[in-house]
Amino acid sequence: MTALDRRAFLRAACASCAAVGLAACAGGSEPEPAAGASPTGPAASDAIVKLADIPVGGSVAGRAPSGPKLLLARPDEATVVAFSSVCTHRGCTVEPDGKRLACPCHGSVYDAFTGKNISGPAPRPLRAFAVRISGPDVVEA
Ligand code: FES
Repeated sequence: MTALDRRAFLRAACASCAAVGLAACAGGSEPEPAAGASPTGPAASDAIVKLADIPVGGSVAGRAPSGPKLLLARPDEATVVAFSSVCTHRGCTVEPDGKRLACPCHGSVYDAFTGKNISGPAPRPLRAFAVRISGPDVVEA
């Protein structure tokens, strides 16, 4: 293959790649906006949970958009608290249990509203995670 043939081949190959790339972009494969998202409000993906999904006086599990698994609780109508679900004993995933948070591995129990270790081998409270109420959602603070 001569230098001229190689240049012509590469030009043709690049033109094909560009055509394929443009076709993929024009194919309408863009994801639809999330339901409930608006240009002025938080995107649905910003919510850890819906506020209404946490019972007052109870707790639920959730996951922050940034990754960590969380336990969220509502001590009263206007307050939401959140804690890491990583047990301070050996790192198992702690689960919600109403006003308590329970580790299934070795039986540690935490207070859902303070994260304080109440019983079992856990040596420390659960790590607090900052959240805030944003309209109908609970989001990272
Ligand atoms: S890992 Fe949770 S009690 Fe042991």
